[in-house]
Amino acid sequence: MKEDSELDSRGAATVIGTRDDDLARAASVILSGGLVAAPTETVYGLAADATNGAAVAAIYTAKGRPSFNPLICHVSDLAMAESLAHFSPLARRLAEQFWPGPLTLVLPRKEPCPVSELATAGLPSIALRQPKHEATLRLIRLVGRPLAAPSANPSEQLSPTTAAHVAAGLGARVDLIIDGGACEAGLESTIIAPGEGGAVMLRPGAQPRAEIELFTGPLLSPEASKGIVAPGMLRRHYAPRARLRLDAESPAEGEAYLGFGAPRAGVSPSLNLSIRGDLAEAASNLFAMLRALDESHVAIAVAPIPDTGLGEAINDRLRRGAAL
Ligand code: TXA
Ligand code: MG
Repeated sequence: MKEDSELDSRGAATVIGTRDDDLARAASVILSGGLVAAPTETVYGLAADATNGAAVAAIYTAKGRPSFNPLICHVSDLAMAESLAHFSPLARRLAEQFWPGPLTLVLPRKEPCPVSELATAGLPSIALRQPKHEATLRLIRLVGRPLAAPSANPSEQLSPTTAAHVAAGLGARVDLIIDGGACEAGLESTIIAPGEGGAVMLRPGAQPRAEIELFTGPLLSPEASKGIVAPGMLRRHYAPRARLRLDAESPAEGEAYLGFGAPRAGVSPSLNLSIRGDLAEAASNLFAMLRALDESHVAIAVAPIPDTGLGEAINDRLRRGAAL
């Protein structure tokens, strides 16, 4: 743990790979209460031992995150998840169908539960997922405990999809960064609370709605549910420094243009999320391209993105990034 420099993001982070000795080192850092940034298929997570309150507190400090905003606990398998939460038959089906993968389930916390109350922000529920990344699954198995991990970025900023993004945002505030390559999906997990009155979608994400609804029926919006919310769904979030203008057919003077699909005549995008109009490709490029344009522009116009499939989560992140 970095006692002397918790808020110093200027120092260089230590970056390691995914070999057995790297992961053993990462596991020992976590077991001694440190912070390790680890790759997942969605975005990089800032991981700590979820059962160690001081380590969980260090996550909030490193991110500058409000402590009323609970963290997702990452498990190695369904058995570990079932030791932490009550699974209804529907919850178990969802886990069997979508894990490992980008679906987070918010479920009633078991009592007693070894996870720190700080990780769940004192709520009676707990958010769980089994990530689909071989190195991180091996890490969780080595630690033998759930890992609390929010996205590995300063609070409200863009989520990291490479080890270099983590290093740029958190620097020496994290003890180790495991470089497992670029994240495949590039967007955070979809968060579902499968309750008795129907399943609520708390956050759209990398697992598209339609595939989940085959099992749950129509997903309810948090407004339609009785008070279940993801406290982290602050309006402004995932935000570049540059001003974002959405649904733009073309850039205005001084704006960078982030395109989607075949460029229309007379408009040359600065970058294109997917020239072939592929939403999965656009999702995996979204945060990295916003970062790149943010380096050199004070305003970014973004082409319209269809709201279907992964477009729902892409548009959610863009709207939050554009909120003032
Ligand atoms: O893909 C992901 O989900 C990434 C990777 C690292 O797994 N993690 C991630 O974590 O996006 P974070 O902390 O940035 O977002 C977690 C969200 C927050 O909106 C939080 O409020 C919500 O999950 N959440 C966590 N526990 C909850 C609970 N018990 N009830 C409702 N919402 C919860
Ligand atoms: Mg986040």
